[in-house]
Amino acid sequence: MIRHREAVEIPRDALSRPPEIPALSFVTAALDHLVLPGLLRFTRLGYRARKGSFAPLAASLGGRTAVVTGATSGLGREAAAGLARLGARVVLVGRDRRKTARARDEIRAATGNDDLGVEVADLSLLSDVRGLAERLLAKEKALHVLVNNAGVLENERRTTPEGHEISLATNLLAPYVLTRRLLPRLVESSPARVINVVSGGMYLAGLGPECFGESVGKWDGALAYARHKRALTVLTELWSDEVHPRGVAVNAMHPGWAETPGVARSLPGFFRLTRPFLRSAGEGADTIVWLAAAPEGALASGALWLDRERHPAAVFPGTAGSPEERKRLVEELERVTGEPSGAAADVRKKTSGPERARRPRAIRPPSGTPAPGAPR
Ligand SMILES: NC(=O)c1ccc[n+]([C@@H]2O[C@H](COP(=O)([O-])OP(=O)(O)OC[C@H]3O[C@@H](n4cnc5c(N)ncnc54)[C@H](OP(=O)(O)O)[C@@H]3O)[C@@H](O)[C@H]2O)c1
Repeated sequence: MIRHREAVEIPRDALSRPPEIPALSFVTAALDHLVLPGLLRFTRLGYRARKGSFAPLAASLGGRTAVVTGATSGLGREAAAGLARLGARVVLVGRDRRKTARARDEIRAATGNDDLGVEVADLSLLSDVRGLAERLLAKEKALHVLVNNAGVLENERRTTPEGHEISLATNLLAPYVLTRRLLPRLVESSPARVINVVSGGMYLAGLGPECFGESVGKWDGALAYARHKRALTVLTELWSDEVHPRGVAVNAMHPGWAETPGVARSLPGFFRLTRPFLRSAGEGADTIVWLAAAPEGALASGALWLDRERHPAAVFPGTAGSPEERKRLVEELERVTGEPSGAAADVRKKTSGPERARRPRAIRPPSGTPAPGAPR
C-alpha cells in the first residue's frame, strides 16, 4: 500500500527529474543500414506497424502559432489540418491565393478552427521569401512552430527569373532564408520548434554540386532533390546546435512514401508501381504534427525522425557531409542568398565531423531502458 508521503513524493520526484531525451535505437539504426527492411518502413505497412506503439498525443496547441509552407496540397495540407485540429493558429503558405484560401476554408470546415491565416509567396523566388518573412514578422507577434514543407523534384532543369535552379531555390534556399529570418522571433517565443521535411532519398546522396547551384553534366532531378534534402538535414543539425540551447528544437522528418499530387507528378513510374503500398498523406504528415506537439521530454533536437522514431541521418559512408563540405554549404548559402548564417561561425570552429561527434550519444544498445514517455 502506498503511504501518503510516498504518494506525494514519487510523482514530485518524477516531475522534478529532467526528462530523458529519446536516444536512437541500435536496432533501428541497424535496420536502416540494411537497405530493404529500411525501405519497407517507408510504405503504409511500415506506418501501420509503428502506429500500434504510438502513445496518445494528448496535446493542445491553443495559443500557439504555426507556419506551414506548401500547405495547399499533400503532406503540408494534412500537417496544417492536424495542427489546426490541436487548436493552433495556423498560417498556411501557398503560391496561389485562391488555392491557399480554398485549403484554409476546407481545413476550417473540417476542424472547426477559425484561427487560420493565409500568406501567398512563390518560394522559388528569394524576393518572395523575404517578403513573406517580413509580413510574418509584422503580423505574428509570437511564432512557435515553423514547418518547412514545400518541396519539388524537377525532372527538367529550369531556372527562376532570379537565376536559380527551381528545385534548389524551393527546397533549400527558401527554407534557409525563411528560417534565418524567423529564428529570432522563434527564440523570443520559445519553447518553439522548427520542422524540416526531408526525404529518405537523401540516404543515397551526400552534399554535392547541386546544393551549390553548380552546373552538372546531365541533369538528374532525383539526385539534385536528394542532395537538397541532405543539405536541409545538415542545416537542421547546425541550427539545432545554435538555437536549441535557447529553447528552439530543430528537427528533420521524412514522411516515408506517401500518396500525394507531388509524387504522382514528379515520379509517375514509381507512383504507378508502388501505389498499393503508399501511405496516405495524413499518415506521412503524422510525424510533422507530432514533432510540433510532443511534450519536450519526448523530443530530441537536431535529429531525423520517421513515424515518431529517431533514425540515423546518414547510413552510407561519405553522405553525412564532412566538416569541409558543411563549411562550404553554409558559406555558399550566405553568398548566394546574402543571408548571414549563424551556423557558419560554429561550423568553421568544428574540427571533427558532426556525424562522428553525435554518434556516441545517439545510439543506444538494445538492452537500454526506454526513456519514460519516449516513443519506441
Ligand atoms: N510524398 C512523399 O512520399 C514524400 C517523400 C519524401 C519527401 N516528401 C517531401 O514532402 C514535402 C511535401 O511534398 P508532397 O509529396 O506533399 O508534394 P505536393 O503534393 O506536390 O505538395 C508540395 C507543396 O509545396 C508547394 N510548392 C511547391 N513549389 C512551391 C513554390 N515555388 N512556392 C510555394 N509553394 C510551393 C505546393 O504548392 P502547389 O499546391 O501550388 O503546387 C504544395 O503545396 C516536400 O518537401 C517533399 O519533398 C514527400
